[in-house]
Amino acid sequence: MTLNIDWENLGFEYMNLPYRFIARFKDGQWDAGSLTEDATLHLSESSPALHYGQQAFEGLKAYRTKAGEIQLFRPDQNAERLQKTARRLMMPEVPTDLFVEAVKAVVKANHEYVPPYESGGSLYLRPLLIGVGDIIGVQPAQEYIFTVFAMPVGNYFKGGLAPTKFIVSRDFDRAAPHGTGAAKVGGNYAASLLPGQEAHDAGYSDVIYLDPTTHTKIEEVGSANFFGITKDGEFVTPLSPSILPSITKYSLLYLAEHRLGLKASEGDVYVDDLDRFAEAGACGTAAVISPIGGIKNGDDYHVFYSETEVGPVTRQLYNELVGIQKGDVTAPEGWIYKV
Ligand code: PLP
Ligand code: COI
Repeated sequence: MTLNIDWENLGFEYMNLPYRFIARFKDGQWDAGSLTEDATLHLSESSPALHYGQQAFEGLKAYRTKAGEIQLFRPDQNAERLQKTARRLMMPEVPTDLFVEAVKAVVKANHEYVPPYESGGSLYLRPLLIGVGDIIGVQPAQEYIFTVFAMPVGNYFKGGLAPTKFIVSRDFDRAAPHGTGAAKVGGNYAASLLPGQEAHDAGYSDVIYLDPTTHTKIEEVGSANFFGITKDGEFVTPLSPSILPSITKYSLLYLAEHRLGLKASEGDVYVDDLDRFAEAGACGTAAVISPIGGIKNGDDYHVFYSETEVGPVTRQLYNELVGIQKGDVTAPEGWIYKV
């Protein structure tokens, strides 16, 4: 089959690939699930996912290696995070085996859509867990759908490894202090749509949210975590109960310390103290490592390393992370799953 895809210029757009996986939870258990060519979901108009946001999602990628093989980056971590989110929203956990096998099955069935090694693209996988069925009161669903679909993607932020600028939201929070900020639920993203649009309209890549209690500390970006490299070479990333526990961030904390020999820690990142950083970036599955050129905060515009050049430590981290994901650099044990 010849695919008419411009691999070099993929953005981050939905594409209806031939196969996705779907499993159903009913009478207290998951069925085995199967691949399907049907890209639409059939569900009750009263499904709690639609009315009360009882749903969760994940994001992970499959990569083509130089030898043409396909591999996944830490899918067990996505399975665990989805389980944690499920507990928070009173949904049944998707067992790790079911999650990983579903992801592998979708990748295998759509293998022609995993972008070539040289293109810089990858196959983005979107697992989704939703509460369905005939319920109208505010209560957890009795039935659930778990589905995984996929599409080839390139850069999430238009710059890729070129720095772009971000803006601090002064009017909106992404999550409440004891809310669902650490869970990967659609409601957090619904809350980010308006500030996100305002940021884009003003020429920024995305919003940086402050902690919802004191509004003095950087929490995260609307679609990625934040990190900075201090002037004395420490990797620092915010610690907060209301940000998404990013798999990329924890991977970078490990790589910064064990591969780059840096001090690496989670801690407070005061928005009025950005001078301590020589470099900064956004990190995540979709964002990969996206250097932050500058941050607008009210009247202040803070430039980090450069608005046009990627800083040396950010580049080293990128090379290490992406090298592991694409099979060019030896991975820490258990990080890579061959498909
Ligand atoms: N923070 C938010 C709000 C996100 O949507 C994402 C994307 O998944 C991340 C952080 C990064 O998380 P991960 O590295 O696990 O993809
Ligand atoms: C991801 O990186 O997987 C995300 O979920 C970010 C996104 C909202 C596209």
